[in-house]
Amino acid sequence: MREDGSMRFCVLTLFPQMIEQGMGESILGNAREQGLIELQTVDIRDYTKDKHRKVDDYTYGGGAGMLMQAQPVYDAYQEATKECGKRPRTIYVTPQGRVFDQKLAVELSKEKELVFLCGHYEGVDERVLEEIVTDRISIGDYVLTGGELPALVIMDAVSRLVPGVLHNEESARTETFDNDLLEYPQYTRPECWHGKRVPQVLLSGDHRKINAWRLEEAKKHTKVQRPDLYAAYEYRQKVIRWLSRKKRQHIHMMELLKRNLGRVLAFDPKDGALLEENTGVIMLSCTSVEAGERLFAASGADFTGRLFCVCQEEIIPVLRSRCQATEARGCYQAYYTRGVPLPVSKELDIRRLDESYAEEIFAEYHELVTFEELKEHLARGDMYGAFVKKKAAGTAFHEDKAAEGENTEYELAGFIGTHSEGALGMLQVRPRFRRRGIAAALESHMINEALTREEIPFGQIFEGNEASLHLQRKLGLNVTDIILWWVW
Ligand code: ADE
Repeated sequence: MREDGSMRFCVLTLFPQMIEQGMGESILGNAREQGLIELQTVDIRDYTKDKHRKVDDYTYGGGAGMLMQAQPVYDAYQEATKECGKRPRTIYVTPQGRVFDQKLAVELSKEKELVFLCGHYEGVDERVLEEIVTDRISIGDYVLTGGELPALVIMDAVSRLVPGVLHNEESARTETFDNDLLEYPQYTRPECWHGKRVPQVLLSGDHRKINAWRLEEAKKHTKVQRPDLYAAYEYRQKVIRWLSRKKRQHIHMMELLKRNLGRVLAFDPKDGALLEENTGVIMLSCTSVEAGERLFAASGADFTGRLFCVCQEEIIPVLRSRCQATEARGCYQAYYTRGVPLPVSKELDIRRLDESYAEEIFAEYHELVTFEELKEHLARGDMYGAFVKKKAAGTAFHEDKAAEGENTEYELAGFIGTHSEGALGMLQVRPRFRRRGIAAALESHMINEALTREEIPFGQIFEGNEASLHLQRKLGLNVTDIILWWVW
């Protein structure tokens, strides 16, 4: 994604028309018209020095078929990337690559631009691949006649993750593969077709029941169609069940797994659970220091220099000696299990923030994030701001909203976000807007949003932050003693 949230694709191919057509219709066509996706196709044949416009030749050492030559591919690449600041991620689509999946689609969607090289004939001269390619990706264990269809498949999967491409922001997140389960069956009108009725529960309007039914159907379906995915789901559930025996202490680890924000590195019901959050934070809960050491050993990974969130203070010296951690800070954990939405002052305008707020926010909040991380939070839509009318700054902000003209200027009074491991945080109210209930409104708003996704909202409060502890209690969150330590 670029500064403005858009994505650029550049495709090196012998069949540019195929790419143009595949990317010209429907959702992708609209996204291009809106400038959310930019596409450049480069015809490799335009770069051959052969007078017959030939781009292929025989394979050294013999073997069936022809190979694409290095020179035209290289020159096409040079031309296509001459304006790129840094070397762009360049994907060679080939059956000899890493198999494409949703996780890789998410990873690629974070790039500003992607270059694709589509092969034909028997492949491409290895020497040019060595010079330009950063990733080799296959779309599955079968062989196609060329790389155009695989490139289109990957661009499609990546494009739908670019903000704004799918109008319903939620649908990019909650579908198949997000939680190791395939999607549940869906129905539209008419209510009865070929004598088959839509399942009664879907007409009930009871969202809890509907969600429970959908989960059961998704499980049944996954078990039959994809036993491999189902086994991964079951394993994750087993770890969640173990964690739920001490729910107060483990809410952050349970939510991490439930929301699919991380994975299990090691687990043993006798020893505990070692998790890795998607951006690399390591979470541990262990039954003893020895058990913790066994979990680290079982994971087979080296954790030097990592950021840890641990439930047992006794393990901190191990992190100091083994992983060169030097700092540790204790935390309370606050969580909201009442399930009832909290009131939010209607006078405040609370809305999602985009990347254009990065500098304004970083000026106020920079202790626990880098500027790059903050921009990523904004790009993912993780942050919300509370706005008040500009001229109302010195007075009450709850003036008559109806009287506002189109051009009423608002300013950012405070903001809040969700950390990558799911905790609410990054809450700040600018000094001159304090003591007006803005922090409470922001947090209540986030709690209500989390409830609509059936999550348990939670946050962590560093030791000594009395103002935050007071706010959590006032809003009705349960606040634990100090039970977590962030170590780095
Ligand atoms: N080119 C030919 N077959 C392919 C596949 N399965 N994946 C990616 N590129 C290919």
